[in-house]
Amino acid sequence: MTARILLLNGPNLNLLGTREPEVYGSESLADVEALVARAAGEFGLDVRAVQSNHEGALIDAIQEAREDCSGIILNPGAFTHTSIALRDALASVPIPAIEVHISNVHAREEFRHHSYISAVAAGLIVGCGVQGYELAVRRLAQLLAG
Ligand code: DQA
Repeated sequence: MTARILLLNGPNLNLLGTREPEVYGSESLADVEALVARAAGEFGLDVRAVQSNHEGALIDAIQEAREDCSGIILNPGAFTHTSIALRDALASVPIPAIEVHISNVHAREEFRHHSYISAVAAGLIVGCGVQGYELAVRRLAQLLAG
């Protein structure tokens, strides 16, 4: 059976490409999903792409990943800085997760400097633009290859 990764994008990332392009760039969420599918394909990995603006839906997707995914790439958007529930969901799933932020959150407002997610992530990629998602695929593939 082909291994699958969950690509999970949180609130407002559906607006990628039009949302603050000076911060997040001009590529759309569809572009990101295609980029991840292509990169994952190089490693023989399938991708399930989910985006939601709702915390509970993101938690449901993480819980469902227990059943049929081997790893997670997660950009929790602003929930990064607020959601203990999302962190607890990730901690409950015994598969590695890479946290991705398109922008360099550490060079931005102070409220973006803290992540509830990072302590339970297998790795972090921050400030590399949408290329960060591709780097996350490569890292996950390496982790999954053992
Ligand atoms: C983000 C950074 C967050 O602070 C912000 O709320 C986002 C996007 C990023 O990808 O740079 O929605 O996660």
